[in-house]
Amino acid sequence: MKFFVDTADIAAISELNDLGIVDGVTTNPSLIKKSGRDILEVTKEIAALVDGPVSAEVVATEASAMIAEGRKLAAIADNIAIKLPLTWDGLKACKALSTEGHMINVTLCFSANQALLAAKAGATFISPFIGRLDDINLDGMELIADIREIYDNYGFETQILAASIRTVNHVSDAAKIGADVMTAPPEVIKKLAQHPLTDAGLAQFLKDAESAGIKIV
Ligand code: G3P
Repeated sequence: MKFFVDTADIAAISELNDLGIVDGVTTNPSLIKKSGRDILEVTKEIAALVDGPVSAEVVATEASAMIAEGRKLAAIADNIAIKLPLTWDGLKACKALSTEGHMINVTLCFSANQALLAAKAGATFISPFIGRLDDINLDGMELIADIREIYDNYGFETQILAASIRTVNHVSDAAKIGADVMTAPPEVIKKLAQHPLTDAGLAQFLKDAESAGIKIV
């Protein structure tokens, strides 16, 4: 499973990237707003920092304007994935921009049929939003499973990018189902390393090491 970081915070991306666990970055207008940075500037900086795809989202809603924005975003760097919303115009832009050879991340996906359409329109990634479905008492993980089944049935190569991940269980559940990629905020990725038994076990080992006078360097 590839790990993308869902943030436009350069320091947070750098810390995880230094560990070698970052396969890409996803942003959206809300995350750009949170960063307080200019979208073109911060996206350029992120794209230079990481090797993998960096999703940058358009803000236009009409296909030809989306295409123009998408081209401008893609010109920032070779590893930009143009992020388009799953609307009819977004699908038109997806078809046009993917035909030009750009990576496309189709976002705001909440149904298997939407994912099917995105794959047919040439999306590189489809982003089903798990947490936002859970928020309204639906089952985000069921959507990931449905899309996996449909894509496998027909051999679609569009990668399932589990998004709107809020918990560590979302990560392992999406991995069990076979999502190709997950994108999560840095805090959730860091929490993946935590376990109370690890903490308790380490405390005991350190206590014993101290009482035994163990010194290594
Ligand atoms: O990648 C999309 C994601 O950022 C949405 O997450 O937590 O705002 O639903 P959230």
